[in-house]
Amino acid sequence: MMGPLQECKVARVGELRDNKGFLATVHGEEISLFKIGGEVFAIGNVCPHQHFSKLHEGEVAGFSVTCPMHGWAYDVRTGVSTNAGGKVKTYEVQIRRDEVFILIHGDAD
Ligand code: FES
Repeated sequence: MMGPLQECKVARVGELRDNKGFLATVHGEEISLFKIGGEVFAIGNVCPHQHFSKLHEGEVAGFSVTCPMHGWAYDVRTGVSTNAGGKVKTYEVQIRRDEVFILIHGDAD
């Protein structure tokens, strides 16, 4: 069951490097952050292919990240694979001062 949408702090902007993934864990979910062209995107870290949680280590080209395991690539803006059939989750990102938040459904208490 999905709880209400919550804002969760996942990183400081200064921790993110351009065109590199950053792994955050929120409510037990691994989420990969990407800073590309001055914007920050958040996707689920688990690749739909064989469910390895390695997208944060993937190579970034443009707005695409490639899973280092077997090469499935995803557009970080939409989560949609650009070379296969899968889709990863995407999360809304908000930046306030030097902090990065994502909106995520929390567990209902
Ligand atoms: S697990 Fe990502 S491409 Fe196979």
